Amino acid sequence: MIKEVVIPVAGLGTRFLPASKAVPKEMLPIADRPLIQYVVEEALASGIKEIIFVTRQGKSAIEDYFDTAFELETVLERKGKKELLSIARSVSQMIDVISVRQKQPLGLGHAILCARPLISEDAFAVILPDDLIDSKTPCLSQLISIYKKTKATVVAIERLPQELVSSYGVIAPEPIEERLYKAKELVEKPSPEEAPSNLAVIGRYVLTKNIFPILEHLPPGRGGEIQLTDAINELSQTDPIYAYEFEGKRYDCGDKLGYLKANVIYGLRHPKLGEEFKAFLKELELSDNS
Ligand code: G1P
Repeated sequence: MIKEVVIPVAGLGTRFLPASKAVPKEMLPIADRPLIQYVVEEALASGIKEIIFVTRQGKSAIEDYFDTAFELETVLERKGKKELLSIARSVSQMIDVISVRQKQPLGLGHAILCARPLISEDAFAVILPDDLIDSKTPCLSQLISIYKKTKATVVAIERLPQELVSSYGVIAPEPIEERLYKAKELVEKPSPEEAPSNLAVIGRYVLTKNIFPILEHLPPGRGGEIQLTDAINELSQTDPIYAYEFEGKRYDCGDKLGYLKANVIYGLRHPKLGEEFKAFLKELELSDNS
């Protein structure tokens, strides 16, 4: 059973400066909700019971967001603003926050290792909140289905243009069935020439606990950081690693353009704002053509 998800949120968010200078990038809104809420909702919709944030000093806004806002709720209650009160409460009632601090910025692999004392099952999930995935079946749930059959580590992958793979972990694939591969090797951020394929790892994983002893001794890799990809690569020498080409559309919200695109899509879909927003975009299109 997969009960826990680890969501690393300790990053410096340098790709999103200046907006991320004083506000965690995970708290930037897509339409009317912060990015972190979408990934928490994905985890809950995938049957996850415990959300573990790996965080650091200066990022407590994320924990506060899922906490009761006592003052706000009292004022809304007193003023009889029922709808707003229920919006505020729905967020604080969503999860009980569990968090652990990553005291040094030593990389994604190290962030996952920080969560080790909180993992109780044989395997756990990881969501990187930069990747917002729009899909019928939640992306994490797609990976969990593979885990249920294989009882092995599974990573989500996406086929990308070769020139983009140097920003990702990349797998050497052995096809098994439609969308499913065995990863024979994983390389963190290879140059397009060195890359073993154009199948890139994106921010959803189901990892077995066997990853922890590897992470404990792993030397720093690409960028001088302890890389999760390197640990999974080492694990591939003893355990099978599966890679699943997820169904859905990914928006890289750690990237300014990806973030803007996500805002347009989720804005258009918003039950209250969507219609007017669409009309506004149409108007823009008309005035561009004139
Ligand atoms: C991280 C991982 C990389 C993965 C990517 C997915 O990189 O290290 O293997 O492909 O997330 O978004 P980052 O985006 O933190 O540089």
